[in-house]
Amino acid sequence: MAVIYCFSGTGNSLYAANKISAEINAEVVNMKSVGECDADVIGIVFPVYFWGLPKTVERFLGDIRITNKNAYIFAVITYGGLAGGADGAVDVLLKKQGVKLSYSAKVRMVRNYLPEFKVNDSKALWEKTDRRLDHVISDIKRRAVSKIAPYTAFNKTLHQNYPPLKTDCGKLFTVNGCRHCNACAYVCPNGNITLENGSPKFGSNCELCFGCVHICPAGAIDYNNKTQGKKRYKNVMQYEIHQLNARGFNRTRFEIDYTKPRNILTVEYVADEYSFTYEGGYPDSSVMINCLELGINSETGIAEQISGYHAYPIWKSASLTPPEAKDGALVMLDKIESGVTYQMKDNVTTYYDKSNGWLCIGALDCDNAEYVRFSENCIAAVGDGKLAAIWVSLPTDCEIMKRLK
Ligand SMILES: Cc1cc2nc3c(=O)[nH]c(=O)nc-3n(C[C@H](O)[C@H](O)[C@H](O)COP(=O)(O)O)c2cc1C
Ligand code: SF4
Ligand code: SF4
Repeated sequence: MAVIYCFSGTGNSLYAANKISAEINAEVVNMKSVGECDADVIGIVFPVYFWGLPKTVERFLGDIRITNKNAYIFAVITYGGLAGGADGAVDVLLKKQGVKLSYSAKVRMVRNYLPEFKVNDSKALWEKTDRRLDHVISDIKRRAVSKIAPYTAFNKTLHQNYPPLKTDCGKLFTVNGCRHCNACAYVCPNGNITLENGSPKFGSNCELCFGCVHICPAGAIDYNNKTQGKKRYKNVMQYEIHQLNARGFNRTRFEIDYTKPRNILTVEYVADEYSFTYEGGYPDSSVMINCLELGINSETGIAEQISGYHAYPIWKSASLTPPEAKDGALVMLDKIESGVTYQMKDNVTTYYDKSNGWLCIGALDCDNAEYVRFSENCIAAVGDGKLAAIWVSLPTDCEIMKRLK
């Protein structure tokens, strides 16, 4: 059995982890899901921070219990310019529990440390990264062993400048021009962002991963006056980080009630904000489908409308025939408290059809599904008590339909 533990702020390390996992048939797991590990191949994939380890990685290596002392353990460390000896730091922590790092590789990727550097995203750099990753994958497949450089005193000194070691970084963020899309809260690997009246509030458990800064579609989040006006990094994998972070429930059950009227609200998609939005007040609780929010009235359980961040670069083109549906209400059967959000665990694909403006968020076909038009331009598919898909009809000449390929 092979498992890859991953930490990623802006998607680079998740990209590397996914690419390796596809080749060695490993499961990619969030570094927060630690406990005992009895795998015989263990990957550790993360970004270098100030020539050393992000807080999460350090904690993970202290907490995980590796029971197979002969496991092949590899580290793949992504970096932006100079990686230092972060692999040495991994080895020091592994040795404390009687295992050692078998192989390590550093992979140069787009640098995301915005206070000091501009984003250097380019096709040429991605090609180099891919070539390097191919090489690393072939090393891992043949169980290559490498010499791990020691973690030097100089290295340690440099790592002391990693701001979260001395500062409450959360205090250094400012927000200007928030459009209330939720994306920052969902991408945060530490759950350090809560939304108050739709705008982010930062706690004191910041890793300084810059996920929130880069993902914000409005460029509304700045750090310590050093990121203003700088171009943000848009990596498609960023949109999948929330999936790595998701603390899923998957226990939400729905039913359709045709005796109740459908909602009269129409949802629109704002392409520049990567988000759904609608006018008409927001319900007090919700179910998250990826980053998308299905607003639920906690008193009645009735789902009102979808809203929030839903990145179109990862939608898939398909030929869609909208299902026949009757008007009614989509009702969540589980009691949900006001202010609470449930996260659906499954990763959901969105399909689109430019020819008729339809989107299908979720399963295209679903056995035993019933369809209800629960709001002006949305249909829900419910099968065996589970929400299988939400269909949305948008005008064929709207901005997002023009942008989709
Ligand atoms: C807080 C912080 C510190 C960083 N320190 C370094 C560094 O010391 N050396 C380096 O080459 N890159 C450094 N980087 C860049 C990242 O390691 C690099 O962009 C990485 O691929 C990001 O991975 P991610 O997208 O998975 O978060 C730093 C980035 C951050 C956010
Ligand atoms: S608050 Fe922002 S920078 Fe800090 S850990 Fe969360 S996403 Fe990363
Ligand atoms: S990502 Fe940006 S626009 Fe969206 S809620 Fe956070 S600060 Fe506001």
